[in-house]
Amino acid sequence: MGFAQLGQSIDGFIATRTGHSNYVTGEEDRLHLHRLRALSDAVLVGAGTTVADDPQLTVRACAGASPVRVVLDPSGRAGRDRPDAKVFTDGRARTLRLVGQDAGAGDGAAGRARDRGEETVELPRGDAGFEPRLILETLARRGLRRILVEGGGATVSGFLRAEVLHRLYVTVAPVLLGDGVPGLRFPGPVRMGEALWPRARSFRLGTDMLFELDLRHLASGPAPA
Ligand SMILES: NC(=O)c1ccc[n+]([C@@H]2O[C@H](COP(=O)([O-])OP(=O)(O)OC[C@H]3O[C@@H](n4cnc5c(N)ncnc54)[C@H](OP(=O)(O)O)[C@@H]3O)[C@@H](O)[C@H]2O)c1
Repeated sequence: MGFAQLGQSIDGFIATRTGHSNYVTGEEDRLHLHRLRALSDAVLVGAGTTVADDPQLTVRACAGASPVRVVLDPSGRAGRDRPDAKVFTDGRARTLRLVGQDAGAGDGAAGRARDRGEETVELPRGDAGFEPRLILETLARRGLRRILVEGGGATVSGFLRAEVLHRLYVTVAPVLLGDGVPGLRFPGPVRMGEALWPRARSFRLGTDMLFELDLRHLASGPAPA
């Protein structure tokens, strides 16, 4: 199982419409994120985040070892568009790039990647990309069991829809981004009684609010008081 995080605006966006997201939430949430990384075996992001942010995905704001970095890159576009991305080149932690079986062989970046020590793992992909369950099994076979799905919205939403997340951390900042990059998206219910009401705890982080949602106990209908 994995756990996931997102930092979003009051109106539900994780970046501006141009993809700029540094930073939606404040310093205390950044510290919380780095603590989550330090507690994880691997931190996983989508190709969109790798291209837009060029993140390091290492532990810097607190003590602890950096997890293995995992990039979902089914068509090889992160490797092509961001060949010098920090996760592929800085050597600060191990990086696995998951590519489609049909894309990997033809992806010219794969050979270069091997040269610089990044590991490319080929997976079968369907219409919706890789099955999140297969991703987690693939990582588990490599000894990576505590997986932090760090973003972006499309990636976290895919894992949520596949029901493989046991915990979700959403930090809401008092900012309005309108027309930004959306956070969680999934086919929603018709009526409120059918909505997902996970058990939740909330924590104040400066002016932000962190919600910790326990997805193992999902139930329909409002949570008991
Ligand atoms: N505020 C936050 O907490 C936060 C965190 C992270 C990122 N961000 C922001 O979010 C934005 C990017 O988010 P996004 O939703 O557009 O993109 P994203 O989730 O970073 O990446 C989506 C892409 O990753 C690949 N992917 C995701 N799930 C996959 C799966 N199950 N199987 C195969 N491939 C999969 C696909 O790549 P292909 O398109 O190549 O098929 C997909 O289009 C950036 O602007 C970034 O700054 C914000």
